[in-house]
Amino acid sequence: MEKTKSIFVDLNERSYTIVIGDDIYNGVAAYIEHFANNRQVAIITTPPVANFYLKKVIAAFQSEWQVISYQVPDGEESKSIAMAQHLYSWLIRNHFERKATIIALGGGVIGDLAGFIAATYLRGINLMHIPTSLLAQVDSSIGGKVGVNHSLGKNIIGAFYQPRLVISDISVLTTLPQEEFICGMGEIIKYGFIYDGDLFTGLEKKVNTINQHNPDELLPIVHRCIEIKSEIVTKDERESGLRAILNFGHTFGHAFESFYQYQGLKHGQAVLLGMKCALEVSRKLDLIAEPIFKRGLALIDHMQVELPPGINKPDINDLLKIVKHDKKVTQGRNNLVLLTAIGAAKVVPVEDESLLAKGFEAVLRKG
Ligand code: NAD
Ligand code: GLY
Repeated sequence: MEKTKSIFVDLNERSYTIVIGDDIYNGVAAYIEHFANNRQVAIITTPPVANFYLKKVIAAFQSEWQVISYQVPDGEESKSIAMAQHLYSWLIRNHFERKATIIALGGGVIGDLAGFIAATYLRGINLMHIPTSLLAQVDSSIGGKVGVNHSLGKNIIGAFYQPRLVISDISVLTTLPQEEFICGMGEIIKYGFIYDGDLFTGLEKKVNTINQHNPDELLPIVHRCIEIKSEIVTKDERESGLRAILNFGHTFGHAFESFYQYQGLKHGQAVLLGMKCALEVSRKLDLIAEPIFKRGLALIDHMQVELPPGINKPDINDLLKIVKHDKKVTQGRNNLVLLTAIGAAKVVPVEDESLLAKGFEAVLRKG
């Protein structure tokens, strides 16, 4: 496979290119030239990422560019209106104009936050994603969901706001902590489950070596996942149908995340656990046969994710209460994404609480 590839996300006037490669940050300014209509760039990042990559990205710009950078504290708490206020003030004080560009340099937290700032500052300025976590590269930097959290719920305030460009450099994954790598693997496995049986089979074969971050194996996988997400988003930008399948495992996963108050269980880990629950419900409804269920479970179990240790364990009733308030509930029914084959999924409205409980039990039995 060639070292640098591009994928075009075709969304009419909101179209953009995703560049995927190995050690490509020195080309950032050249890429930005394609859309930037002034020379102001504001990089929003976080200390762990800045330590490794901020200088390299800044160095790509010649002196005629006004490049400023802001490091927000690491972690989900930074996805807040309070942090957005700081960032607006910073942009205003630096006289940033409507034609300026925001670069989100970091994982999904930075992408969502910086994307929200780009969508709202001066009613919208250019956004460029430079995703540095595996999860952000294969998922959150594509498709335009941006936002911040509210004390009453995650991702409650936000917008659909497409970037002008995405640059995914897989060489930066070498510094990603293993736990974060596994979170990205959760989303990669999800694409295999819901959309691409060949990807799933490939993952089954290579799971041990992929987990060692082998770049030659990772590049085609990251590329394929970006292709899948781009295809889905192109067909259904605002989640009125197909895009909903990307939520496979998310209804259950969000319930776990919410129970632990977004601490101790990361989003990607929760998705891995949530997919176990969704598999269980798919089997109970006879949408998939036992061998498929077992294959699915085996691949997820390879990731070795469990509920956080300690006495604070959820029981079924805690989780059922949370799941009833899920964002995707309509007319009192949970719209679950369930599997119909390896590589195919559909949304199924589920009213029966005992079925949801069976799903959660798939994880609680072990926890
Ligand atoms: P994250 O942004 O917190 O990043 C994970 C950790 O890895 C952080 O500590 C970060 O500093 C560090 N990191 C990132 N890249 C690194 C690198 N190359 N080297 C060393 N350290 C690095 O978490 P995440 O898993 O990337 O994203 C989770 C967030 O994404 C959640 O807020 C979730 O809601 C959101 N999300 C959004 C979408 C979407 O479509 N917008 C989709 C999925 C998830
Ligand atoms: N991560 C789900 C979506 O982008 O729709």
